[in-house]
Amino acid sequence: MSKEIVVSGIRSTGHLHLGNYFGAIQNYVLMQDTYDCYFFVADYHSLTTHPDPKDLKANVFRVVAENVASGLDPDKVALYAQSDVPEIPELYLMLNMLAYVGELEKVPTFKEKVRSHPENVNSGLLTYPVLMAADILIHKAVKVPVGKDQEQHLEMARNFAHRFNTRYGQLFPEPQVFRFNKEAVKIMGLDGIGKMSKSENVNATIYLSDDDATIRKKIMKAKTDQGPSEPNAEMPDFIQNLFLLLQLTASADTVTTFKDAYNNCNIRYGDLKKQLAEDMVTFVKPIREHATDLQRDETRLRKILKEGAEKARESSRKTIEEARKLIGINYY
Ligand code: AMP
Ligand code: TRP
Repeated sequence: MSKEIVVSGIRSTGHLHLGNYFGAIQNYVLMQDTYDCYFFVADYHSLTTHPDPKDLKANVFRVVAENVASGLDPDKVALYAQSDVPEIPELYLMLNMLAYVGELEKVPTFKEKVRSHPENVNSGLLTYPVLMAADILIHKAVKVPVGKDQEQHLEMARNFAHRFNTRYGQLFPEPQVFRFNKEAVKIMGLDGIGKMSKSENVNATIYLSDDDATIRKKIMKAKTDQGPSEPNAEMPDFIQNLFLLLQLTASADTVTTFKDAYNNCNIRYGDLKKQLAEDMVTFVKPIREHATDLQRDETRLRKILKEGAEKARESSRKTIEEARKLIGINYY
């Protein structure tokens, strides 16, 4: 039986952090043996915010290096840059004819961008979900591992697929959000404000590229409170987040020790943070070192991207030929 097709992308807009790792990349790694996986760097998507051309290549290479350092095997999956697959913008153009301006204007992520950057409301931002649908449908993917923040975009991809199929004939399956670990992991910032993110609060975000001292410093500054005043009290979300990080990186015994301390009202957050800092350093260090080595090896990275693009284009070419034929673009 042929394997189910999986697609997911990460924008090349900054350094990858623990949210990307536990929310996305860890899932990719778990899927690579069981599914036919296409993972890519969404460099076209990153152009919506006008990055400096001189940074683009380093950004793309870093995302690739950090994914490989996190355990993704380019021999098992297609790992490529979106801009290396011209069939994606071609399908994006076709899907744009089926996407209504009214529905695109209602997308929460678009409305948020309009609020936060009124000086740059470009039509690439408006049609961001259409390009994302093209990324997915070009491989006829059925499963898309993404965080909760992307669910609405996925729903739009299903709508565009359905509209295409209805208008021109059956071509696309309707892709579903997929999580290998049933629970969606969301990592909050260490300041307790919002989720850990590439661009928001640098000091509240642990990046896969942070050195040991930086990791320790950030964790020691994480938000805590006076501690529980009664046994078995409910945890505030920022304390829950520290326990989640501990659970993801420390031994089960360590987690139990601190949970018991919390429930018995004798927890010392200083000790918890020291322990978490050490476990986090142990966790991040090998990924960071491997990623740094890879980033120095441009030949290897170029080879990974080139081979990834070949695999992605082979699958994309077939889909685009079928799409053209169904639309009626086959003149010769
Ligand atoms: P982005 O950094 O927005 O391009 O996101 C890339 C992937 O990481 C997506 O699948 C997101 O859902 C996931 N992700 C980003 N930030 C977090 C976070 N703080 N917690 C969990 N998942 C996240
Ligand atoms: N929009 C996604 C994000 O911000 C990145 C992305 C682009 C993506 N194209 C995709 C994710 C296709 C999954 C499938 O996280």
